[in-house]
Amino acid sequence: MFLEETIAKEVVLTIDGREVKARRGERLLWAALDHDIYIPSLCAIREADLPFGGCRLCFVEIEGRQAPVTACSQFVEEGMVVLTSTPKVKRLRRTAFELLLSHHHLDCAHCARNRNCELQRIAAREGFKLKLQRFRRIPRSLPIDSSHPLFIYDPNKCVLCGKCVWVCHERGIGSIDFAHRGIDTRVSTFDNIPLIDSSCDSCLECVQVCPVGSLVIRDGKKSTEG
Ligand code: FES
Repeated sequence: MFLEETIAKEVVLTIDGREVKARRGERLLWAALDHDIYIPSLCAIREADLPFGGCRLCFVEIEGRQAPVTACSQFVEEGMVVLTSTPKVKRLRRTAFELLLSHHHLDCAHCARNRNCELQRIAAREGFKLKLQRFRRIPRSLPIDSSHPLFIYDPNKCVLCGKCVWVCHERGIGSIDFAHRGIDTRVSTFDNIPLIDSSCDSCLECVQVCPVGSLVIRDGKKSTEG
C-alpha cells in the first residue's frame, strides 16, 4: 500500500535521453535541475506558487508539442519526452538573452557582482556572448538609489526577474514592486521614494536574491557567493 502511494506520487519522464523520476505536480525546470540537467533560468523561484515567466530563458521542447514551452511553467507528466538544447530552443534562448542585455547596463569590470553574476554564468553555460549582436541598446540612465545605509539599488542593471519583489512581498513588507509598463518597466518603491524612506526593514533579502549587480551591499562586496 505504502509503495503504491509512493509510486502514484511520482512520474517518470525522459530528459535529454535520461529517464528521471519527479514528484507529480513538480515543474519541469526543478525536475531537470534536481537531476543535474541544466536549463538556464533567471526569474524562476521554486517556492512561488505561480511562475513569473518573465525572462524566457528556460525554453525546452517536448515531444509531440508543436511549440517550445517554458520549463518553469510546465508540470512534469508521465512519459513526457523533453529535449533541452535543440536548435530551436537555443535560438529562442539566445534571443531572450540578448533582449535582456539590450537594457542591462553592461560594465562587468566595474560591477560588484563580476564573476558572481547569473548573466555571466548563463553566457558561459550556453555559449552566449555578453554583448549585443542583433539588437540595439536601449539607453537607460535611471537614478541610482543610494539612500540606504546598507545597500545600493541600480535600476540600470536590473533584469526584471522579479525575485526582489517576490521576496519583499513574501516577507509581508512590500516596499518595492514593478512600476510602469513595456520598456519603461522597472522595480521601484511606491511613488519612487528613496528606499530609506520606504517601509524597507533592511533584511537584505532582496540583495541576496538579486541574480545580477542591481542590488548590492554598500561596501561593494558580493552579496552572495556563487
Ligand atoms: S525561468 Fe522560466 S521564464 Fe524565467
